[in-house]
Amino acid sequence: MHQDVERILYTEEELKNRVRELGMQITADYRGKAPVLASVLRGSYIFMADLTRAIDLPISVDFMAVSSYGSGTASSGQVEIKKDLSDSIEGKDLLIVEDILDSGNTLYYLLDVLRARKPASVRICTLMDKPARRQKPIKADYVGFSIPDAFIVGYGLDYDEKYRNLPYVGVLKPSVYGG
Ligand code: IMP
Ligand code: MG
Repeated sequence: MHQDVERILYTEEELKNRVRELGMQITADYRGKAPVLASVLRGSYIFMADLTRAIDLPISVDFMAVSSYGSGTASSGQVEIKKDLSDSIEGKDLLIVEDILDSGNTLYYLLDVLRARKPASVRICTLMDKPARRQKPIKADYVGFSIPDAFIVGYGLDYDEKYRNLPYVGVLKPSVYGG
């Protein structure tokens, strides 16, 4: 285990199994459709790679990057699109793939922007959900794990751009971010 990690929350094996279940559920729900999976970079890149391979549908993938300003471990209501989707989503079944739903500020803003482009449907799939931290009324349609309020890293999730490559999800030691 990494020295900055307090404890492992989900092992590589647990992540793999849950992502496979999500993929099966999405496959069943979208049968006969060809959804566009839009990953919100950077935190969801590993989840996206594994989730798409667990879906047995003629999907397409697209990517966007946003930044939200706030302190080290919290986002704010100010969201900026750093990289937009490459293709039009008009008339498409859009599935937004997020790493973690925390305050909801990021998705609240994104949903507004994306719905204005007239997709046929919009759903949210998030690997992690911290419902206790919600500031905006956002609910994900697919949730990998609902977790308590702790700052987590690994499997794509970072603190200060570090720890993304840990194969498990762990709780970061508060001393690392001065908590
Ligand atoms: P929200 O706008 O507060 O919902 O923030 C969502 C974004 O904040 C996520 O997509 C993550 O990039 C980041 N974030 C929130 N909580 C954590 C965490 O525990 N670890 C790493 N990143 C987090
Ligand atoms: Mg993110």
